Amino acid sequence: MITVIGCDGSPLPAPALEHLARARLVVGGARHLAAAPVPAEARTVVLGDVGAALAEIDRAAGEDAGDVVVLASGDPGFFGIVRALRERGHRPRVLPALSSVAQAFARVGLSWDDALVVSAHGRELRRAVNACRAHPKVAVLTAPGAGPAELGRALFPQHPRTFVVCEDLGGPEERVVRCRPAEATTRPWRDPNVVLVLASERAAGERGWIAGARPGPAAWALPEEAFDHRDSMVTKAEVRALALARLGPRIGDMIWDVGAGSGSVAVECARFGAAVVAVDRDPAACERIRANVRAHGVRVAVSRGEAPAVLEHLPDPDAVFVGGGGPEVVRACAARALRSVVVALASVERVRPALDALTAAGFTARAVQLQASRLSPLPGDVHRLAAVNPVFVVWGDRDAASSPPAPPARTAPPERRPQTLAELPEADR
Ligand SMILES: C[S@@+](CC[C@H](N)C(=O)[O-])C[C@H]1O[C@@H](n2cnc3c(N)ncnc32)[C@H](O)[C@@H]1O
Repeated sequence: MITVIGCDGSPLPAPALEHLARARLVVGGARHLAAAPVPAEARTVVLGDVGAALAEIDRAAGEDAGDVVVLASGDPGFFGIVRALRERGHRPRVLPALSSVAQAFARVGLSWDDALVVSAHGRELRRAVNACRAHPKVAVLTAPGAGPAELGRALFPQHPRTFVVCEDLGGPEERVVRCRPAEATTRPWRDPNVVLVLASERAAGERGWIAGARPGPAAWALPEEAFDHRDSMVTKAEVRALALARLGPRIGDMIWDVGAGSGSVAVECARFGAAVVAVDRDPAACERIRANVRAHGVRVAVSRGEAPAVLEHLPDPDAVFVGGGGPEVVRACAARALRSVVVALASVERVRPALDALTAAGFTARAVQLQASRLSPLPGDVHRLAAVNPVFVVWGDRDAASSPPAPPARTAPPERRPQTLAELPEADR
């Protein structure tokens, strides 16, 4: 039997001690092994190389060589070892302790059902940083090399945030430090730590019905009237609908809106939870973008300047919308975009160079002309078709998985039988 015991610095409860006393193999981090009453006759494996430790557990379980105990931090079912054990076919008994995230929010007296919890532990720091850019309340599980200093470097100076760095929670070296991102880059930090990245430490936070991220927006491709714009310089709702579908903005993404104009695409991407930078060379446009961002209650960084030069210092984008700029702008965006680029064009002559730029950068490129005619009321309870200017949308995807899946082979329809509810098969439980 494998028992996973969570450790949060408080004394182990009686059931955990009983399992530990019977263990023949005890696996855990050095600090957890040192703090627990490991029986003298048990073999210990220090968790450093997780793969090697899992192989030891497999062997012990396969040979039926007595009880195995794994000591892990906090709640081992939350970004912890339980997943890896399950993936290898084990069915561990789990005795959780308080998660480091729950402890961290408790230390600052904040509720956390509205917080995003992201992990940079053995994963890309970029995604965690983008989540911190877009969301007002984020807990980051860190790792050496992806901790408070690296987070601070990525968020400074554009993102005013309070960091609450919680080191060794529940342990002998516990320390809770509040600082700004800039300060976080210059201080030494002790592992393990979890970092709360807060837009405001005073805000109680939004009351919701779902933990973590808010659900996506109830509507998108908003009407042009939802944005302040000049001389109809706003991407039309029908074009925005396709652009958003191809950009696929999500939490953890960085999206650029280049030649943002009113910032309608930028705002809509932010409504999906992505981190967004809107780029425009016109100071008045930048002001308008800021006003639209405020009106929609989202977070968008605005970068004033001429593309492609201004793009150089921006963080790498997952996806880019190019609403303004020539082929050199499309080329520069394609060189940096990790997933997709979407270009809206009014002139037919620009379609070919845009397709070529995307193809040359390794994207699968496609294009469509969109022409919508909206029903517009006339006197006498009748309607006319009011044509919206045609627009070419050119887009490129890097990800082969984004091409549509093959449709299932057609087979004869199954015989209809009344259904009865059966217990779930063992494997699905
Ligand atoms: C693999 S995750 C494990 C999370 C764990 N299951 C939990 O619920 O706390 C490892 C990360 O959790 C955080 N962590 C775990 N124990 C901690 C502690 N005592 N103090 C601060 N952070 C801790 C750190 O960010 C560490 O890098």
